[in-house]
Amino acid sequence: MTRKTQLSIRGLYKIFGARPQTVLPHVLAGMGKAELLQKHGHVLGLQNINVDMKAGEITVVMGLSGSGKSTLIRHVNRLIEPTAGEIEIDGQNILTLSAAELLRFRQTKMSMVFQKFALFPHRTVLQNAAMALEVRGESTSEREAEAVKWLDRVGLAGFEGHYPHQLSGGMQQRVGIARALASNSDIMLMDEAFSALDPLIRTDMQNLLLELQTELHKTIVFITHDLDEALKLADHLVILKDGAVVQQGEPQEILLNPADPYIEDFVGDINRARVLRVRSIMHPGEDGDHIAGEVDQNATLESVIELSGGDTQKNYRVCAEGVPVGFLDMKELVKALVPAHANASRSGDIR
Ligand SMILES: Nc1ncnc2c1ncn2[C@@H]1O[C@H](COP(=O)(O)OP(=O)(O)OP(=O)(O)O)[C@@H](O)[C@H]1O
Ligand SMILES: [Mg+2]
Repeated sequence: MTRKTQLSIRGLYKIFGARPQTVLPHVLAGMGKAELLQKHGHVLGLQNINVDMKAGEITVVMGLSGSGKSTLIRHVNRLIEPTAGEIEIDGQNILTLSAAELLRFRQTKMSMVFQKFALFPHRTVLQNAAMALEVRGESTSEREAEAVKWLDRVGLAGFEGHYPHQLSGGMQQRVGIARALASNSDIMLMDEAFSALDPLIRTDMQNLLLELQTELHKTIVFITHDLDEALKLADHLVILKDGAVVQQGEPQEILLNPADPYIEDFVGDINRARVLRVRSIMHPGEDGDHIAGEVDQNATLESVIELSGGDTQKNYRVCAEGVPVGFLDMKELVKALVPAHANASRSGDIR
């Protein structure tokens, strides 16, 4: 299924400092972040960002601290104005919205889930979850009915009358998600939404988000500095470094074909067997010889290794929803476990 682009960022630059427009020509001529700071005392926040985000997909923006992730997501709801570039949502240039239009746009088109939950301490869970609808002026009964529905959906039925401090961090973030969902906006912006949570709770929240997403098909912009989280959630992965996109694409594709040494380093330590899926390394078309059985195209390589008992002589028929779509050679699978740069530089001489 090809999905339509809902959010399009074109040639976006953000320079922080007293006179961004004056130093912009230097950046356009190729000056990097370090030099701009040293020579002109301005911080290059973002440079030439071009990203299309598709409706119903999770776009994950990842990068190290200071790479520009928050700066980028804040442009989407215009908490930050760009130095240059364009941002379109549903074909509309959001930079030309009047103050009143912008307000309405923020209230109806998008919701935000924050790292620090940002719940109101003196309001109940129910009132917090109903927040966006209250701001929009909906009646108490309408907004409470919606909030109850979404609190139930995120596993918080029975907690409506509690206050945030009575809940654990994971539960508070469930309220944050219920609040975002209750607003019924297409676009959800999530800046490090799970980063403050313990690992096990974090995994629960990732699973909850994926489960909700199979039904709701929101357009989600998810910021993280955690590669495992990024690979688990992303339909489209954008990797930032020093305010620029170093690589973007389907996560499996990036793992198999890192564009440069920075990405190689980034993905080098990942458990490839657990992350890579059969579909990324299978051969389309006819079956090969020695078919030992069938595997689903979305099975992890780890599960196929287990199934094969480690036998590299075996081949498997690959199916999508029960229909054959290709075949998998176990030898190819083993090769895919070795990071791409090692494959490319291999000389046949192992020391
Ligand atoms: N208001 C500001 N004024 C000056 N510089 C800023 C401002 N906001 C951000 N920056 C700079 O822009 C760059 C990107 O910052 P940003 O907060 O977007 O990074 P980040 O990727 O979200 O990092 P983190 O993972 O730590 O949240 C950094 O160099 C930062 O110092
Ligand atoms: Mg940030």
